[in-house]
Amino acid sequence: MNPFYQEGANLMKILYAASEATPFAKSGGLADVAGSLPKALVKDGVDARVIMPLYGDLKFRDKLEYVTNYSVPVGWRSQYCGLFKAEVNGVTYYFLDNEYYFKRRGLYGFYDDGERFAFFSRAVLETLFYIDFTPDIINCNDWQTALVPVYLNLYYRHLDKFNRIKTVFTIHNIAYQGKYGTDILEDTCGIGRRDQHIVEYDGCANFMKGAFETADKITTVSPTYAQEILDPWFSYGLDALLREKQYKLCGILNGIDMDANDPATDKHIPFNYSIDNFEEGKAKCKEALQDRFGLNKDGSPVFGMVSRMVGMKGFDLVQSVADGLVDRGIELVILGSGESQYENFFSELCARHPGRVGTYIGFEPALSQEIYAGADAFIMPSKSEPCGLAQMVACRYGTPPIVRETGGLRDSIHDSTMGDGNGFTFAGYSAHELYEACCHAQDAYNNKENWHNLVHHCMECDFSWDVSAKSYEGLYNETANLW
Ligand code: GLC
Repeated sequence: MNPFYQEGANLMKILYAASEATPFAKSGGLADVAGSLPKALVKDGVDARVIMPLYGDLKFRDKLEYVTNYSVPVGWRSQYCGLFKAEVNGVTYYFLDNEYYFKRRGLYGFYDDGERFAFFSRAVLETLFYIDFTPDIINCNDWQTALVPVYLNLYYRHLDKFNRIKTVFTIHNIAYQGKYGTDILEDTCGIGRRDQHIVEYDGCANFMKGAFETADKITTVSPTYAQEILDPWFSYGLDALLREKQYKLCGILNGIDMDANDPATDKHIPFNYSIDNFEEGKAKCKEALQDRFGLNKDGSPVFGMVSRMVGMKGFDLVQSVADGLVDRGIELVILGSGESQYENFFSELCARHPGRVGTYIGFEPALSQEIYAGADAFIMPSKSEPCGLAQMVACRYGTPPIVRETGGLRDSIHDSTMGDGNGFTFAGYSAHELYEACCHAQDAYNNKENWHNLVHHCMECDFSWDVSAKSYEGLYNETANLW
């Protein structure tokens, strides 16, 4: 038992470090988690705060309050860091400002991302000198904050304020590791020769590997993914290392923000509904969706998809079966953007099947909600899916998901063809299996009473953070008590 930390004595203090968080900046699911897990923790009496970069196109910029500024060492240089804050839903958000690094269009994808997030990670620790908040745990997320535990151990551990802080590193997607040439380590990251082995892997600087070495715990976003990444098919080269660190690895399924995703109050959908009147509500939303995409209203089921158009999401499978599904009388609505081969294919598919297929290339949050509400079933055949949130949102809107059994999809969706499930699942990464699962969904749709029960069952599923926030609290307690 750590003599400095007493459970229940004080509020547990968590600093949640992330490169994006709703409602301020979002490029993917990480932002949803960073926006909703701290909120659930606060509701449970934890003092959880979020720290993130102050991007040029951050939302609600005018609502931020300036706190102070200081210098942050980045390699041999010192860089300005401004500190701003805001409060949303009882959660304090800190924003780190440096216009050279963050006043750009978009969040990532710049030649100097390694340097930008080395700065950010170092600045997270420096900030603790200027705020009246010493966390028990810093929960870092993905490669952008992976250097926080590395720097903590190398440069701050000996200081009173820092010597009891523990770290949890959460993997949202192991595909993105923060890999660079080793030449950036000394000059840019400020990690000298003697310590470079901590972040070196396979001849590269690998930020995520540094976090695996130095964080007290490693978590990922579903129990199944925690197993999968020990296998080379999923690990992007890190399985051997993770097997070595398995003693400190676990998976906790994400939840979704039940208030922000509620068909009873959602302002983006044409008709609000709940579990009590979903038949009427979904029928109206479906009609509006069909009108919007010019689809025939002939009683066909509409299968929807909302996703980044990249290989990992299983678009190659959908591409193989799309014409077959349309021929079987299924209408498709697809929203997303990404790799041009898929953008082109689905635009062309739409042109080839007027009245049967609707494609929207781009990301448009309001339209996504219209699809969750208006579609009859939701397709998500990912090759790999650490957790996935869309399948949970689809259930909340009464839209049974058709998923491949991987990662969080396997942990949240259970096949209903044989009994009591909340969707349709298939195991192998094959177009045939996806096609078959879609056929099962279509057959089920044609049996009105069974379909009603399935939709009802989906809407009953509890994907709120209530359960998972408790698992995080347990993990934080355990971590805080480590020596
Ligand atoms: C990443 C993963 C996704 C997960 C999300 C939030 O975007 O790809 O599966 O749901 O992070 O953890």
